[in-house]
Amino acid sequence: MVMQWRYAVDASAVDEEDVVQVVIENRELAVYRLGEEFYATEDACTHGQASLSEGVVINGVIECPLHQGRFCIRTGKPRGGPVSVPLRTFPTQQEGGKVFIRIDAET
Ligand code: FES
Repeated sequence: MVMQWRYAVDASAVDEEDVVQVVIENRELAVYRLGEEFYATEDACTHGQASLSEGVVINGVIECPLHQGRFCIRTGKPRGGPVSVPLRTFPTQQEGGKVFIRIDAET
């Protein structure tokens, strides 16, 4: 399995306690900023047809815009509402004001 770092977004484009959608190789991801740290998860909610990047970030939790399901941004674990399946998360790193995400090149 090949793991590769991919450019996702400029760090300055993500406000603190904010989330933006990025698309890397046809995969929709949500990138979050908590303080000076960046996190990435799948953008699609595990409960239904909703984009988490259209949701709200509250204290390290992303709230889905459709049924208000909540996930921990750092771990992807369900944190309330109707969701029970964890979100997939991806490692991130910053370099030169840019955010990179490590994704599995084969999935
Ligand atoms: S689609 Fe996200 S909570 Fe239902």
